[in-house]
Amino acid sequence: MQLRKLGKNGPMVSELSLGCMGMSDFYGTKETRDRKESIATIHAALDAGVNFLNTGDFYGIGHNELLISEALKTRPDKPLISVKFGALRTPSGDFIGYDARPSSVKNFAAHTLTRLGTDVIDIYQPSRVDPNVPIEDTVGAVAELIREGKVRYLGLSEASPENLRRAHKVYPVTALEVEYSLATRVIEKELLQTARELGVSVVAYGVVGRGLLTGTIETKLGVADFRANSPRFQGKNLEANLERVSLLQELAKKKGCSTAQLAIAWVLHKGNDIVPLIGSTRRASLQENLEAQSVKLSAEEIETLDATFPEGTFQGDRYPAHGMQLVVK
Ligand SMILES: NC(=O)c1ccc[n+]([C@@H]2O[C@H](COP(=O)([O-])OP(=O)(O)OC[C@H]3O[C@@H](n4cnc5c(N)ncnc54)[C@H](OP(=O)(O)O)[C@@H]3O)[C@@H](O)[C@H]2O)c1
Repeated sequence: MQLRKLGKNGPMVSELSLGCMGMSDFYGTKETRDRKESIATIHAALDAGVNFLNTGDFYGIGHNELLISEALKTRPDKPLISVKFGALRTPSGDFIGYDARPSSVKNFAAHTLTRLGTDVIDIYQPSRVDPNVPIEDTVGAVAELIREGKVRYLGLSEASPENLRRAHKVYPVTALEVEYSLATRVIEKELLQTARELGVSVVAYGVVGRGLLTGTIETKLGVADFRANSPRFQGKNLEANLERVSLLQELAKKKGCSTAQLAIAWVLHKGNDIVPLIGSTRRASLQENLEAQSVKLSAEEIETLDATFPEGTFQGDRYPAHGMQLVVK
């Protein structure tokens, strides 16, 4: 497993990171996901040299952190765990806003430390910039936790270039988690350049387009699947998007790799300061994704992919309207 350095001050992490969200939430519920297979997938990732796991305290409302903690109990490995906080939910799972006030940050951290069964959170980040709290206050609270030894590194998620700059002035940001794939290239407009200027690494999520770029997505999504509410996965948009994916499938066939592998390889080739974060809940998809590391793309092949899938190629917003308000546009 190749390693990449995170930020100017950060650790070396495996060049592919495992997203654990789907093991508890968003692609089904904690009740419907396969717990045994999820844990086996985390173990298989560690066996393959993945040392970078991704979660959020609101994924399954604490369920995901507990699952990771259980998976690691029997293992000697100590992977780095990146945790997001701030999203508020009701007991029935509804999302009811964000809270990244300093006192809340410390409260969230206390619960995460207990659930993960650890003394320190490796990377800690607000899941969205809280529109009601100056970013300086939120990251100031994380910086205090770092000074107290409760957190190692500061991250941000879906922050605008301006918020990234403001946060970085308060405390060095190690990593910025943001959607980046052949289906969502909006960060190329400005954010990627800002991150590079500041020496902040990008942890790219949605690399296989939430399943779209694998060419294997079901067209009838269950009610517990967040994609059913995402314009990109609805009606005419989905039809048009699947047509675009067939172009990727053709290119992958020519290359002799899977469609998912080509999508992952494209992100891997976009710079050593970008770490693809891929959600897998099954060992089979994890294995396929890990093999993307051996897919080498020539400058010409990257150019072809760039030109075939410019930003805007895929129809429909990546989140429902309320979700679009707090993400990079
Ligand atoms: N910062 C943020 O705002 C934010 C937002 C969303 C997610 N995240 C993090 O980023 C991670 C990745 O994002 P994501 O999971 O939404 O998007 P993703 O990695 O693009 O897509 C994951 C989906 O694709 C499927 N998949 C993956 N590899 C596959 C393959 N080789 N063949 C067929 N299907 C495949 C997965 O199903 P299987 O599990 O069945 O393989 C899952 O349904 C999450 O786990 C989470 O930790 C962060």
